[in-house]
Amino acid sequence: DAGQHESFMRKEMLEQPEAAERVLRGRLDERFGTSHLGGLDLDARDLRAVRRVKVLGCGSAYYVGQMGAGLIEELARVPADAESASEFRYRNPIIEPDTLYVAVSQSGETVDTLLAVQEIRRKGGQVVGLVNVVGSAIAREAGRGIYLHAGPEVAVASTKALTTMHLAFSLLALQLGRVRDLSIADGRRLVQALQRLPEQLGEVLALEDQLVPVAARLAEAESLFFVGRVRGYPVAREGAQKFKEITYRHAEAYQTSELKHGPLALISPAVPTVAVVPDDELTERNVAALHEIAARGGPLVVLTHAAVDLGDLPSQAEVSRIDVPRSERELDAVLLTVALQLLAYHAAAALGHDIDKPRNLAKSVTVE
Ligand code: BG6
Repeated sequence: DAGQHESFMRKEMLEQPEAAERVLRGRLDERFGTSHLGGLDLDARDLRAVRRVKVLGCGSAYYVGQMGAGLIEELARVPADAESASEFRYRNPIIEPDTLYVAVSQSGETVDTLLAVQEIRRKGGQVVGLVNVVGSAIAREAGRGIYLHAGPEVAVASTKALTTMHLAFSLLALQLGRVRDLSIADGRRLVQALQRLPEQLGEVLALEDQLVPVAARLAEAESLFFVGRVRGYPVAREGAQKFKEITYRHAEAYQTSELKHGPLALISPAVPTVAVVPDDELTERNVAALHEIAARGGPLVVLTHAAVDLGDLPSQAEVSRIDVPRSERELDAVLLTVALQLLAYHAAAALGHDIDKPRNLAKSVTVE
């Protein structure tokens, strides 16, 4: 059982620093600014031959997969994207010999992901599994991969498994980068940042008390937006997913840049926006969008970092600012994602829901 914790989800959220340590253990190489991934079974020559990366997963695994694809593209400069495994296998996908397919799954049993892997293998494609459950169907079918070592996850809403997925992607991206043009200095900078992450995850969890009242206010809204762009967009998608899964509120993720092309019409004092605003090249553009929202009276919850200046936001809107500890900008997504887990959790708790067993959902969907 969940022991002294009120739910498995809360227990598993709090276990994230240790889970992060486990997925990184023995895999970081500070001297050469890279990673060691024994289960990958691909040497430098194989990794250099990769021309494209396609990430496949479902639900939250798909959203973290999108973060991972972005990271691979950024560090290794190899075209990479993520697609939901459930769609992929129905569209007669083109399987390319120099594409590395990465299947991501906590359970390793999600049938949509498993069947996508089988389809790729049947057509001669090479697959790597990022899987938590050792010996699970996807791990076996992929034949090679990175185990997540998150420990058993019981709550339907995935938390610690996602964090380990993100870190496994970071390790893979580092290695793909270091056999290409990622410099040893950048490699070391990221290795050192990864070494600090378990402790920083603890610092994010310590924001809980600050997030409880913010979450309770969000729980009152029938409909919300979660926005972010580039690195922040999959963070917003996962934040919205978590929120809708356990609060049953309509939470829609949008690219901040696309707001003005449609959803701005819906912004009002009744529709809050949770905005992901990391400290990066896009901060200024993101802050400008916050002003657009606030000018229409839209309540804002801004997940950002202490160094970010939000300017004088129009006073008609209610604004809550959450300063999340920061890593290197390539890795901040994982810390922001954990803050959004806490937000969803406490919104669902304020509504009195059974958080571990959300209605209509199963931990892993093993039927077609
Ligand atoms: C869904 C679960 O059905 O499967 C999600 O409700 C989960 O929470 C998704 O993210 C994928 O599961 P897995 O085990 O393949 O990571």
